[in-house]
Amino acid sequence: MKGKDLLSIADLAPDDVKRIIDSAVEMKRQGTSSVLAGKTLALLFEKPSLRTRVSFDVAMHQLGGHSLYLSPAEVGLGSRESISDVARTLSRYVNIIAARTFDHVTVQSLAEYATVPVINALSDKEHPCQALGDLLTIHEKKTVLEGLTIAFIGDGNNVASSLLLASALVGVNFKVASPRGYAVPVEVVALGRSLARGGAQITLVEQPQEAAEGADVIYTDVWASMGHEAEAEKRRAAFVGYQVDAALLSQAAADALLMHPLPAHHGEEIATGLIDSSQSAVFDQAENRLHVQKAILAELLG
Ligand code: CP
Ligand code: NVA
Repeated sequence: MKGKDLLSIADLAPDDVKRIIDSAVEMKRQGTSSVLAGKTLALLFEKPSLRTRVSFDVAMHQLGGHSLYLSPAEVGLGSRESISDVARTLSRYVNIIAARTFDHVTVQSLAEYATVPVINALSDKEHPCQALGDLLTIHEKKTVLEGLTIAFIGDGNNVASSLLLASALVGVNFKVASPRGYAVPVEVVALGRSLARGGAQITLVEQPQEAAEGADVIYTDVWASMGHEAEAEKRRAAFVGYQVDAALLSQAAADALLMHPLPAHHGEEIATGLIDSSQSAVFDQAENRLHVQKAILAELLG
């Protein structure tokens, strides 16, 4: 995939996903190398971040390269300067751009004008790096992917969409339980079904228990994503009954993993204390963002 962009999981073929996961396993074993010596990554962020920013920065460092963080205030993407001019200018200085944007169209237009690869570091529609890191975590813990079932409980958001698509590509069944009005967009479900391999099923239900029954992974994320803060109160009301708690977790397989991309709102989408359960893979998940992003950077920079 040298020179290509990673804006959506749909930019990847099943073999790309498998290769990135295998490479991440190797990167994790190896620790540091010099494969990206002399290369620079620009981190262009419109929204806050802990994991994505730090893991990309550390990833470049561990691969012998360099990264620089550009805050919204500094760049003024689309206000101080047009998206196309920012993309064309940055391309003259850096070898790759990771952008976190409110609107997915912004990361798409950065990619359109940049002459270097652009990685979607989260937009309102997708979070592909998260989904790839999550598959790495599941693969590590379960040793296989194909035939497993992920139950996603909550908002059909960017994280749910990318994980649905990534699951479809590697033969993982994806069941998602969301309240009415908060389901994964129909076009994402249709795309996932068209990409599905290995008989992977995508199932949309309303009741969390129905999704959780016998699942290998129970996954949740915040009810109000970045950019939706003003809807937090309304969403708290809409998502009553959708909290992942010990009772819901007990409906899944006995050895099911509990996953959350973080940041978490303890006592909302996830019961207080559940993150410390023996089934929680949450901090391994956070760590694996580093390893998978090293694999993504090496893949796109060749
Ligand atoms: N999971 C994740 O992307 O976290 P940050 O928003 O902190 O980067
Ligand atoms: N869905 C969340 C994920 C954060 C990593 C958000 O977009 O805010």
